[in-house]
Amino acid sequence: MAAAVDVRPPVHRDGASLEAISDAVDTVNIFKGMATTTTTTTDSAAFDSASHFDATKDKSTFRQYTTACDRVKHFYAEQHAKQTVAHNLAAREHFYSPARQRPQMGIWEAMEKLNTLVDDSDPDTSLSQIQHLLQSAEAIRRDGKPRWMQLTGLIHDLGKLMLFFDGCCEGQWDVVGDTFPVGCRFDERCIYPDLFAANPDVGNEVYATRHGIYRPGCGVNELMMSWGHDEYLYLVLRDQSTLPREALAMVRFHSFYPWHKEGAYTEFMADGDEALLSAVRAFNPYDLYSKSDEVPKVEELKPYYLELIDEFFPQKIIKW
Ligand SMILES: [Fe+2]
Ligand SMILES: [Fe+2]
Repeated sequence: MAAAVDVRPPVHRDGASLEAISDAVDTVNIFKGMATTTTTTTDSAAFDSASHFDATKDKSTFRQYTTACDRVKHFYAEQHAKQTVAHNLAAREHFYSPARQRPQMGIWEAMEKLNTLVDDSDPDTSLSQIQHLLQSAEAIRRDGKPRWMQLTGLIHDLGKLMLFFDGCCEGQWDVVGDTFPVGCRFDERCIYPDLFAANPDVGNEVYATRHGIYRPGCGVNELMMSWGHDEYLYLVLRDQSTLPREALAMVRFHSFYPWHKEGAYTEFMADGDEALLSAVRAFNPYDLYSKSDEVPKVEELKPYYLELIDEFFPQKIIKW
């Protein structure tokens, strides 16, 4: 009998191009965030007071945004069409499969690996992964936040390593981008909601209903979130770290903008989920806005963070 032919398309494992789309997604979220802030600040201002909306937006921001929008829309056309329940079940089945050879490495090693894989993007326009992680952690540390939250900043994007692990994803579209639950109607407050029309689940008699496969109040942790670096890292950390549930929520939901920014999907929240939402919201600025901070000195900071890693990862070597 002939061997089964793998008909899956090859995974596009270009780290620089993953980084570029990830940055573009952030740019759009930063811009949307500024627009939201503008609305709230002008509400209470007199009609003739100085405008605030353009204070932090120079022309280059707008240019970046326009470029980012084209690229990001193209990206979401694929992501929205392909994030189906079937794909998500298959991704989890693969993740948990006893046959999967899970790569093994410590947290700092993982940071260095991600850096080498994703670090060949334009140094003028984007930071290395390790710098983004350290900047997030350092900003949290400077604000006097707890040690577990500093560590969360340090590791929150390590799930992007999945791009380089066999069978863990099919392309950029199931690694980065805003996330949303599958198995229920896609909310209008998701980015580019019209693009979901190409998703076969919109024709499913259960998945297309408001609550779909869930019941109201089931709890956000019961939602099957679209597959990506957030969910991947969450599954790794849940079983192998002593991080508190707020930290796990910051990791799992940091790209769940329709929920933490737009207020969608709240009907699924259970008792205790308000605290998780607050945690995710508290984390978001350190992810989005720490990128312009001073470039961290990796070797100087390393001893502090190695100790912090040891505190919450008792077994040191992680199965990814
Ligand atoms: Fe991320
Ligand atoms: Fe990030």
